[in-house]
Amino acid sequence: MDTSVSVTTQYQSGFGNEFATEALPGALPKGRNSPQQVPYGLYAEQFSGTAFTAPRDHNLRTWFYRIRPSVKHKPFKQLSKSLIKGAPFNDVPPNPNQMRWDPLPIPDDKTDFISGLVTMMGAGEVGMAGLAIHIYAANSSMEDKYFYNADGEMLLVPQQGALQLYTEMGLLEVNPNEIAVIPRGVKFQVKLPDGPSRGYVLENYGSAMRLPDLGPIGSNGLANPRDFLYPVARYEDKEGDFKLISKFGGNIWQAEINHIPLDVVAWHGNFAPYKYDLANFNAVGSISFDHIDPSVYTVLTSQSNTMGVANVDFVIFPPRWIVANNTYRPPWYHRNIMSEFMGLIRGEYDGRKEGFVPGGSSLHNSMSPHGNDADVFEAASIADLEPVYIDGSMAFMFETRYVYRLTEFAMQTPCLQAEYFKCWQGLKKHFNESMD
Ligand SMILES: [Fe+2]
Repeated sequence: MDTSVSVTTQYQSGFGNEFATEALPGALPKGRNSPQQVPYGLYAEQFSGTAFTAPRDHNLRTWFYRIRPSVKHKPFKQLSKSLIKGAPFNDVPPNPNQMRWDPLPIPDDKTDFISGLVTMMGAGEVGMAGLAIHIYAANSSMEDKYFYNADGEMLLVPQQGALQLYTEMGLLEVNPNEIAVIPRGVKFQVKLPDGPSRGYVLENYGSAMRLPDLGPIGSNGLANPRDFLYPVARYEDKEGDFKLISKFGGNIWQAEINHIPLDVVAWHGNFAPYKYDLANFNAVGSISFDHIDPSVYTVLTSQSNTMGVANVDFVIFPPRWIVANNTYRPPWYHRNIMSEFMGLIRGEYDGRKEGFVPGGSSLHNSMSPHGNDADVFEAASIADLEPVYIDGSMAFMFETRYVYRLTEFAMQTPCLQAEYFKCWQGLKKHFNESMD
């Protein structure tokens, strides 16, 4: 019998809570994770996102109550043709140059989220720590195929077009200016309700994203836990010819499966996909002087084993007031040990006026200098320091302790701007030894 449950999209809120949700009344076993017999004849399946013995406040796991256990599929075979890459990133030598890319075009041929995924750069080692950055450009929904990523959790940043993420835990609908995080291993399918779609994907090989500590900021601010939305249980019970695609060890594999693998009727746990509306970010900044380090705009962080050093931070540049007195208000020229990948969801980033457009990307690798072009420098140096509200733009950064290593695609695509360096060549010498 083919049945499916379709509900108006509902969510439960709170970052990393222990959620409990059922699509049929009484499907969640009471007082037991794995009773001898599960209600409705379901199978119990544990899904862990950390070692069993991880400390309690880092421990991630979910119990599924599903129509068939996940193990029921045919063997995987490796697919050879894909632009999705995984560590180690040895295509080309690491490159110290400042880099910038135009948006990747939406393809003309029928392309779904997975076939439209292209790896730009990455670092580290699958299964240990590090990351990869991909861009997707797609024009059609995934049909009869489902995907999971064994290598890392995926932080999706749609820039154009909404995404419907049908996952084992339920449905997330994600619009531009929202993000979604799909934990490592969760099976999902992507549909495009608005048609052509493009966005960024951070694949995090390291520890799962968490909210940053707030320190002296106090108990509120930045991204508040209650604004993180999780799906409610939703299942499909359909048999037929389907494909299960796995990203495993950096490669793409595919298996035949005779049913839709989104057949979870109930689940409870804290290891689940979620979404977050960036408009809910409570920005904190300088109300006196100086340009504060952008770490103050961290939405989510994947910490490394070194205290205070991120495997990767997801940082945004949201609408906000700029009020600092006697201050050069844009970012000063800088060289950082952390490597900075930037993307733009909409509007104009205040640090760059031209050449960095929505859907485009830039990379300033470890210790590679960058800052404003000459025109912005001259203007900001004499600007009237009235309070200014930066509105209508949303840029973001994937900042990592690693040196980003580019893929061959990223170096060879015509979207790479060969003349990016020229924006700094007009910087003038203002030095005057006599201070006249
Ligand atoms: Fe920077």
